Amino acid sequence: MTRLLLFCGSQRRASLNTRLLDEVARLVPDGVTLDMLPPNAVDLPLFDQDREEDPTVRGRLAILHARFAAADALILASPEYNGLMTPYLKNLIDWVSRLPRLDGAANAFLDKPVLLCSATPGWSGGGVAIPALRTLFGHVGAIPFGETICLPYAAQAWDADGRLNPAVLDFNWSACVARFCAFVARQATGAPA
Ligand SMILES: Cc1cc2nc3c(=O)[nH]c(=O)nc-3n(C[C@H](O)[C@H](O)[C@H](O)COP(=O)(O)O)c2cc1C
Repeated sequence: MTRLLLFCGSQRRASLNTRLLDEVARLVPDGVTLDMLPPNAVDLPLFDQDREEDPTVRGRLAILHARFAAADALILASPEYNGLMTPYLKNLIDWVSRLPRLDGAANAFLDKPVLLCSATPGWSGGGVAIPALRTLFGHVGAIPFGETICLPYAAQAWDADGRLNPAVLDFNWSACVARFCAFVARQATGAPA
């Protein structure tokens, strides 16, 4: 069974991107196992090569690495900060990318499709940072999916009851998620397109 790891690039309690991630999770077809990684499960210091041997950090890192390694593919929802990825996200990826160099673990990102999603309260919807995210995930060996889901003016996207406003709902999202999951299944089985 295909397994997806979903994670957010914001730690904020009221994160718009966590909301977006929840919406995207609801669009994932049946038969796919979802592992939601909450920000409070990511208790890593700011990356410092001198702390790589710290047993507390290594223990936490091993648990996180195992969750990435167990996934067939990744779905990220992240805001952009000044047109780039958030420091929290970069820090997480930097740490997880280091474990293979430290203890010979497998590269947890290698050949894994990643669907990039973003939401921001402004006009860009986080789309300005998408090329940087492609560079980051491509660099660690993942396969950024061609399509992205970007939600501009996201602070107005949900009503008081937490329902996504149909006026801003992009009905192509479900088709995008379906195409991503089909791509993941083909990658996992080696089946032709
Ligand atoms: C340091 C910083 C830089 C930001 N830069 C951008 C930006 O470049 N583009 C943008 O659309 N929003 C930017 N924002 C606004 C964020 O998109 C907004 O705070 C958003 O709600 C954060 O995502 P979250 O709700 O998932 O936490 C920035 C916010 C911060 C704190």
